[in-house]
Amino acid sequence: MEKTLRVTRVESCIISLMGRFPILSYYANSRGWSFLISWGHRLAGLALVGYVFAHIYTLSLLFTPATFDADMKFLHNLVFTFLEWALAIPLIFHSLNGGRLILYELFHVREDEIVIRWMVILGLIYIFILGFFFIAQSPQASVPLFWSITLVVSLVVFLLVVNKIWRTGNSILWKLQRITAAFMIPMLLGHMLFMHINYLTGHDSKTILLRLQDPFVKGMDLVLIVVLLFHAGYGVFSIIADYIEPGPLNKSLTCLVIIVMAISGYFGIRLIVAL
Ligand code: HEM
Repeated sequence: MEKTLRVTRVESCIISLMGRFPILSYYANSRGWSFLISWGHRLAGLALVGYVFAHIYTLSLLFTPATFDADMKFLHNLVFTFLEWALAIPLIFHSLNGGRLILYELFHVREDEIVIRWMVILGLIYIFILGFFFIAQSPQASVPLFWSITLVVSLVVFLLVVNKIWRTGNSILWKLQRITAAFMIPMLLGHMLFMHINYLTGHDSKTILLRLQDPFVKGMDLVLIVVLLFHAGYGVFSIIADYIEPGPLNKSLTCLVIIVMAISGYFGIRLIVAL
């Protein structure tokens, strides 16, 4: 029998606050909160795709460090700092909700209410920790220790999902999307946390270039960009498939997605290898 959770006071406050937005309350009443969550997942995924392109572009300025530093100086203001922190919201939401879907599809965890509650708690803790480090900006995390732990956790999650997904009858691309998703949970959340703990690692050309001389960091970044672009590309492809029936338009858009992801992959890999 399915357990029904008692809604806490904080949760009912959040729900009633969200219900004040007419569009949210309309869909929450007519289609349910899970409909809104899946839309949120989709929009957050698309926002992250946009950010990845912007990120590759900004990092390409490192070929002329002075330009990169000038740009970072220009962006070093309250509005952009806030936006940089706010980017953690779609990331943590998409990652945790993606994790929830994987738990549901592969590990048959059906206690959605409990999982969503934990998603909200962990998500809030994560964005507050990031905000704290952004404001405090004092500690420097040890690079080898931080990344060794993150990599080990990613590999464990990756192996658990590979082991489970292997026996399902889904297409290989679908399986790869879930596998890449699982691998990215610790990697991307770790990446974002690391950049907030070590502010200079994301904003100072000298520090970034020095970091990229490390073969371990180079290798990890290479794996991450390939995994990420595959996941994002397949994600956009599945959105197209949801709205456009098989035919010439569907094929053309799919080709466009492959070309854009391949070009981004080329520039991303060239950046990591050449810098
Ligand atoms: C960090 C870990 C991540 C996890 C756990 C994750 C998980 C998932 C899952 C499980 C899906 C399938 C949803 C479905 O079929 O209903 C998905 C879709 C998608 N993901 Fe991710 N993802 C992650 C990171 C990213 C990143 C970094 C991007 C973009 C750069 C991205 C872009 C997308 C897109 C565009 C979709 C399609 C959305 C849809 O069909 O509604 N994801 N993700």
